[in-house]
Amino acid sequence: MMNERELLEWYLTAGVEFFCGDVPGCLKSVAPAAETPSAGEAAKQPRPAMTDLAQMSMRACKNARDISASAATLSELRQAVESFEGCALKMTAGKTVFGGGNPNAKIVIVGEAPGADEDRIGEPFVGRSGHLLDKMLAAVGLNRDKVYITNVLPWRPPGNRTPTDAEVAVCLPFLRRQIELIEPRIILILGGSAANSLLDNEESISRLRGKWLEYKFADDKKADALASFHPAYLLRNPAQKGKAWADFLRLAKKLQNN
Ligand code: URA
Repeated sequence: MMNERELLEWYLTAGVEFFCGDVPGCLKSVAPAAETPSAGEAAKQPRPAMTDLAQMSMRACKNARDISASAATLSELRQAVESFEGCALKMTAGKTVFGGGNPNAKIVIVGEAPGADEDRIGEPFVGRSGHLLDKMLAAVGLNRDKVYITNVLPWRPPGNRTPTDAEVAVCLPFLRRQIELIEPRIILILGGSAANSLLDNEESISRLRGKWLEYKFADDKKADALASFHPAYLLRNPAQKGKAWADFLRLAKKLQNN
């Protein structure tokens, strides 16, 4: 069974841009005017497949894809994201948090979404999770000048709730385009939500972490992707830090060979 994000993506890939009732791509303006059905007839009619909200999400996804594809540089993409109005999270967020760090880095680090500190300051991973991430990077000889850090979502979900499939679907083109423009060799994904969004699967982070996977960002370009625990999770569950440390050692080893 497809989730909402997969359904939206599937329709977009198939070239569908709007819905009329349950018929993808049927123009409302050319559809014959329907007579008001009787209660019995109405019960037999198929339920509309998509709500108005889903249609809006789909238009927003297409818009996000189009403006991402036409951004030729990270700074053009940043401007496009900052002026994008297709994600309701922007209304409750304080600042747009685009990626930061070295745009020529071999490593891109991907988190889930800005938290309260990031939302206030406008930079990714600057709160408690960010401080732990900095320490873990330093332990393997890395720092923010050597990596590019970003998130699946550029806006903070209210109360740090997990983003919905529709929010992820709308914002994913921005992340994908950042990766295309940077062309990293390695992608480190922090946390299950970010890993599921970017790798398009539903595996738990416990099963995903620690394994080298492939992330393809163009027909002939791919990066090695490694998922690990989110620093916020490690702050709540310090006993898991050993596993995260093993992941960072894997990362350092891969970097040496790249
Ligand atoms: N958590 C994230 O996933 N990203 C941030 O930028 C901060 C906290």
